[in-house]
Amino acid sequence: MTYKKVKEAADFIKSQYKKDIKIALVLGSGLGGFADEFENAVVIPYEDIPHFKRSTVEGHAGQLVIGEVEGIPVAIQQGRFHYYEGYKIAQVVFPMRVFGMLGVETAIITNAAGSVLTSFKQGSLMLIRDHINMMGTSPLRGENDERFGARFPDMTQVYDPELQEIATEEAEKIARERVEKGLDKKYLQFLRRGVYCALSGPNYETPAEIRMYRMLGATAVGMSTVPEAIAARHQNIKVLGISCITNLAAGITNQPIDHEEVMETGQKVGAKFKELLKRIIKRIAAEKTETANA
Ligand code: HPA
Repeated sequence: MTYKKVKEAADFIKSQYKKDIKIALVLGSGLGGFADEFENAVVIPYEDIPHFKRSTVEGHAGQLVIGEVEGIPVAIQQGRFHYYEGYKIAQVVFPMRVFGMLGVETAIITNAAGSVLTSFKQGSLMLIRDHINMMGTSPLRGENDERFGARFPDMTQVYDPELQEIATEEAEKIARERVEKGLDKKYLQFLRRGVYCALSGPNYETPAEIRMYRMLGATAVGMSTVPEAIAARHQNIKVLGISCITNLAAGITNQPIDHEEVMETGQKVGAKFKELLKRIIKRIAAEKTETANA
């Protein structure tokens, strides 16, 4: 049944945008501004797509924006479905299922997250090198449809090493250019690597919980990304994950956590984040073009 629904949604998107979409971008809270990078974008509201739900969280528009970067078709999922909104976990990953059906090869998944370490500053970006799933469920729970992927998929390397390398290189280039242009006095590494721990939310954590997650090996905590990353790997889509550290997690400072502030930080980092994403996507697109011409 799900397969049929996914196919109906994919067929509809194909009827609106004919080319093969290669890269999908899932944007987190306050990070939705990337779509203005496209010329001649095609916008498809979720309510037009069969079986797509609507996004209920503030700061998340509900639409797909499809355009080209360096001639490579890229789809942006503006507005994601969170488990805490009450959706079934299969509904949370429905758009990723559709991307897989459309032939997407690479998913870039972003989020807002709280740092469990004191050494991260508000507004830093973190490259996800691995995750811990504390949501208490998996999007693959239930009957497995082999047309999507295997019953017991391997999760040794969820976040693609080559994509991580590209992201790191591009972040370094930006940091060096900023010094050369006199925008920063010294070289600032703005893409550190870390482990993202996914929780079901919607309440933020207690200080005791944050101490526990830190002991377990988490670098940052958030309420998304992991279901989508698991579904993507199930379908053999390569994944890159980047967190925007919008706040220090509970108890790391004495400050209470405020959703408004989380959103504001996301927006403030927007320009830096967009620049990094743009360069990463250009690199991936260039490599895809090379492979196609080889
Ligand atoms: N905890 C969980 N999710 C979050 C946080 C946090 O501190 N900040 C942004 N998303």
